[in-house]
Amino acid sequence: MADEAPASDAPSSEALGCTDLVKKVRDGTRRVAIVDGVTLSMPPGRLWALEGPSGSGKTTLLLALGGLMAPTSGDVRVAGRSVVGLRDHHRTRWRRAKVGFVFQELQLVRGMSLLENVLLPRVPEGGATADERARALLLLERCGIAGQAHRVVDRLSGGERQRGALARALLGAPAVLLLDEPTAHVDAENAARIVALLAELKSGDAAPAILVTTHDPRLAEHPAVDRRLRMRDGRLA
Ligand SMILES: Nc1ncnc2c1ncn2[C@@H]1O[C@H](COP(=O)(O)OP(=O)(O)OP(=O)(O)O)[C@@H](O)[C@H]1O
Ligand SMILES: [Mg+2]
Repeated sequence: MADEAPASDAPSSEALGCTDLVKKVRDGTRRVAIVDGVTLSMPPGRLWALEGPSGSGKTTLLLALGGLMAPTSGDVRVAGRSVVGLRDHHRTRWRRAKVGFVFQELQLVRGMSLLENVLLPRVPEGGATADERARALLLLERCGIAGQAHRVVDRLSGGERQRGALARALLGAPAVLLLDEPTAHVDAENAARIVALLAELKSGDAAPAILVTTHDPRLAEHPAVDRRLRMRDGRLA
């Protein structure tokens, strides 16, 4: 990859950070900030929960941090590199290499098996190698759904799909893991499994920084959560 990133002034212990991040959208004739000047710096191996009322900007912030949405202004740093100024294809490659993202709506592809879904991020790179396939199966095992690997995702339960999307996000061993409401729509047992997985992930070797948005006290109040951030009207309280 060509090294055209602007020099970063990120703290050396930072996995994920942003400074004065703003996202404005059009609302009729006005432009309103739905993310309004957010600054944060997250070391690796931490699990942070981002809470706040519906519509406060949590998903928007997560998308901007993951390089999936261009902010209006401000800086985003992922694994020591400032990503906002990168050209599209460099940002995409950096994001694929460093960020695991689980969308609020999961975005698993219907009609494909769970394993095929987990290996989907490899498709733009020319498909999965045998090693990556083995790693995908290991991740499914770790997420407690190896037995479902060859089932079409349409037939899986909400909790199984949620864990499948998490396995897919982990395939590239990301430095940053961003999860949008990972325990929404799952029962108590599945919520506990997901939280236990996140706790395990953040304490492993080369642990990612894990930022989750949530309305769920089962997650936000879990002892594995190192910090609770609260968002309101696009700002961190
Ligand atoms: N592309 C867009 N254009 C216009 N408005 C948007 C756009 N994306 C989000 N919004 C608005 O910005 C606000 C923040 O949305 P966002 O999805 O980030 O909230 P949230 O905190 O994730 O909410 P929830 O808890 O319901 O998931 C909402 O009022 C939403 O309607
Ligand atoms: Mg949301």
